[in-house]
Amino acid sequence: MLARQTRDHLFSLGLKSFQCPPGKAWGTPHIPLNLRGLMAGERLTFSLYLKASDNQGEGVKYFPYLEAGEVLDSKWLEPLSKVEIRSLYFHQADLERVLAYLNNYLQLLEVEGPAQIQKKLNVLAEHLNLTLRRVFAAPRLGPHIQLAQKQVDRIIEEFQRDKLSLKLVWEILSRNYSLYSHSVNVCLLAVAMMLFLKKSKGDSRLLGSAALFHDLGMTRIPEDIFYKSGNLTPEEWEETKRHPLIGMQMLKRCSTLPAEGIQLVREHHENADGSGYPEGLLLHRQHPWTRILRLVDAYDALTTHRSYRQAQSPFAALKCLQEQEGPRGPVYDPRTIKDFIRFLALC
Ligand SMILES: [Fe+2]
Repeated sequence: MLARQTRDHLFSLGLKSFQCPPGKAWGTPHIPLNLRGLMAGERLTFSLYLKASDNQGEGVKYFPYLEAGEVLDSKWLEPLSKVEIRSLYFHQADLERVLAYLNNYLQLLEVEGPAQIQKKLNVLAEHLNLTLRRVFAAPRLGPHIQLAQKQVDRIIEEFQRDKLSLKLVWEILSRNYSLYSHSVNVCLLAVAMMLFLKKSKGDSRLLGSAALFHDLGMTRIPEDIFYKSGNLTPEEWEETKRHPLIGMQMLKRCSTLPAEGIQLVREHHENADGSGYPEGLLLHRQHPWTRILRLVDAYDALTTHRSYRQAQSPFAALKCLQEQEGPRGPVYDPRTIKDFIRFLALC
């Protein structure tokens, strides 16, 4: 077996000499997976590679280290940890398999109870990281989406320092996978759009964090309403409209989101003409970035496939957003829509 031969070979030479600086693999077909995302005793559904110099002066290569189908033995990971190798790499074609593997791991950890919480949060951070990688490749998010990569990495790093942030991300994922994917998409779009508009990196991260949590309050909406496939009754609709305020309450102890970020979560359904909720604020009374969050949230919802409707094309979605009128004028700020069209490079 090639991977076994490579492991023996690498161990006999000493792993330290093979280690390369982290972060060089971006832009290559290989993606890092932190060792903490691996389940000892479980069968791997994808192959993993060790990033290393080939010692021939030909640069970085990816040596097969673990093969799909092998049952992972923790003794294969220990030598890596000892020389501070934190990640192995998988081929980008296996991204969906890796996400399914991590999802399975998260479910298994949930069954084992609260003692596994730290482990679960570590695996979740890895899942979040890779979900973002997947979204970067989506054409409907436009060519400028790559702008967001570094700043979104920083957001995840901050979340890993604050357990509560990751726990709240876990609440979104465990409530519903579509809600989680939507939150990740909106985060990426918001950060990239802010950078496109030449806002500061710190401001971009602030809106990105708020965007990741914008629908957090939906996790507290009763399941019979959340999963209802038909039209909501007026009472059910009123209940759903509470989610910005519920999210705001849930985020008050979250150190990664300052007051401005919480304001953005509260206002993410406010419309340009004052016809939104919960307060019906006119544009000039809203936080200046609410209009961006409002727009990217709606755009992602329209361009994503749902069980009850087809995804719209980017053109169709933008047309729909441009034409949406409230009682006192456009629902979405026309200037922000214009900027967004330039951002998506659709003009
Ligand atoms: Fe919402």
